Amino acid sequence: MSSLNVTVSAQEPSSCAVDALVVNVFEDEKVSESTLASLDQKLQGAISRLADLGELDGKLFHTTLLPTGGQTYAPRLLLVGSGKRVDFGSNRARDVAGTAIRALLKRPVATVAIWMRGAADGGDLAEAVVTGAILGTFDPGEYKTKREEPLTRLTSLTVLESSVQRTSAAEEGAKRGQVIGEAVNFARHLANAPGNVLTPEKLAAAATREGAEAGYSLDVLDRARMAALGMGALLGVSEGSEQPPMTIVMTYKGRGGDGVDLALIGKGVTFDTGGISIKPASDMHLMKEDMAGAAATVGAMSAIARLRLRVNVLGIVPAVENMPSGHAMRPGDVVTALNGKTIEVLNTDAEGRMILADAICYAQRLGAKRLVDAATLTGAVVVALGNQAAGLLGRPQEWVDQVKCASEKAGERVWQLPLFEEYARQLKSEIADVANVGGRAAGTITGAAFIGEFVDEGNAWAHLDIAGTAWTEREEPYLAKGPTGIPLRAFVALAEGLQQS
Ligand code: BES
Ligand code: MN
Ligand code: ZN
Repeated sequence: MSSLNVTVSAQEPSSCAVDALVVNVFEDEKVSESTLASLDQKLQGAISRLADLGELDGKLFHTTLLPTGGQTYAPRLLLVGSGKRVDFGSNRARDVAGTAIRALLKRPVATVAIWMRGAADGGDLAEAVVTGAILGTFDPGEYKTKREEPLTRLTSLTVLESSVQRTSAAEEGAKRGQVIGEAVNFARHLANAPGNVLTPEKLAAAATREGAEAGYSLDVLDRARMAALGMGALLGVSEGSEQPPMTIVMTYKGRGGDGVDLALIGKGVTFDTGGISIKPASDMHLMKEDMAGAAATVGAMSAIARLRLRVNVLGIVPAVENMPSGHAMRPGDVVTALNGKTIEVLNTDAEGRMILADAICYAQRLGAKRLVDAATLTGAVVVALGNQAAGLLGRPQEWVDQVKCASEKAGERVWQLPLFEEYARQLKSEIADVANVGGRAAGTITGAAFIGEFVDEGNAWAHLDIAGTAWTEREEPYLAKGPTGIPLRAFVALAEGLQQS
């Protein structure tokens, strides 16, 4: 899958023979009194002179490139601001590493060594550094045939770990970081694909190829099997499309024995026109991202399998295209989901919750008791939380807390919204068991409440509404514009936490 060579080394930074040596600097440190002093001496005081000139303030993500004039084995030194020391941890380290790589990508640099000075332990720090560096290499312009500036390919990444006692922990961490970083970039690559390129069939093919390499097994349900099962909600959504629907079922058994410890479910609408309740033309092209939850789910399954986590994980991706046509589902139609519940379709643009309903029913039929879904479900979550945090809802609270902790650990922000049972009243239908929309008020909550209608009593379920976080229109020093891969890292952290010892 990858050609990036990742290593950990206890080498002296100045004797690292790479195209660029990266070192992080803090806002509140003095070069001569810190671990930078010996490197500074090798460079005959070049770093402290920069600091004296006020060119090295250590502010978060500020970068300064310095030619080393032959005084270190690396011809250039990139200093990256890391903010205040007290605020520095793995999440910052990941972003600092990403910033460094993005600053170097357009330069003729193929081999990089990163000396991340900081507080975290060797394993976690190395994981964060490698993940961040690999995330930094993501190229959202993958469909361009010509580029203004050529992108240099990173071929080798060395993580410098000064303590020899910690190198084996750092090596383990670096391996994890590489698996996770590459899985996130794979998910971003899928989410970046236009609707004509990535149809439900192509998504299933990509998940199948990935499963063969990573080590999870697949069962792809076609229309006939879904019809025989009674997945009327998903099939209703896909009626208007020429593209055949697929339910992609991925199974990874990492511990002995049967049973599902965790089910990951991702909304896979490869393009969402809104259907007969068609969306306005402006910005409709963005709806190619409506399978970002699916991309994160496939990527998470890949990472979980490659990391050989000791846990049994089921991944389900309901994949459809939502189109208007003479065959399309109409507003007012009634469809029956897998668990027998009838749904009145008041708006064909509220399609994500319908395909998730059938996917969640199917996951439970396969034995899932703990579920988490990720979906670009509502524009309302962008109104509520903007692009800074995904909406988190579910029950019981202990399970929601576990998902929240995993997300925080992974550096993917979430914010819980309430799911008081009174909200479900907004989904009352005159003629069916439930309506698929609940009016303008609390759109993200009623979307989640609809999905909750399909979760069996006693099962734990959490829902991540990623409509505001799956894609970024704002470039960050560590992050390209485009798909973010959220919540893949949280999914992996959640699986990690459920391992049997
Ligand atoms: N895929 C959209 C939600 C979306 C909006 C994703 C913006 C990413 C960015 C979803 O299927 C949708 O159309 N939701 C409707 C629900 C409404 C009809 C209740 C919405 O948010 O308007
Ligand atoms: Mn929609
Ligand atoms: Zn949608």
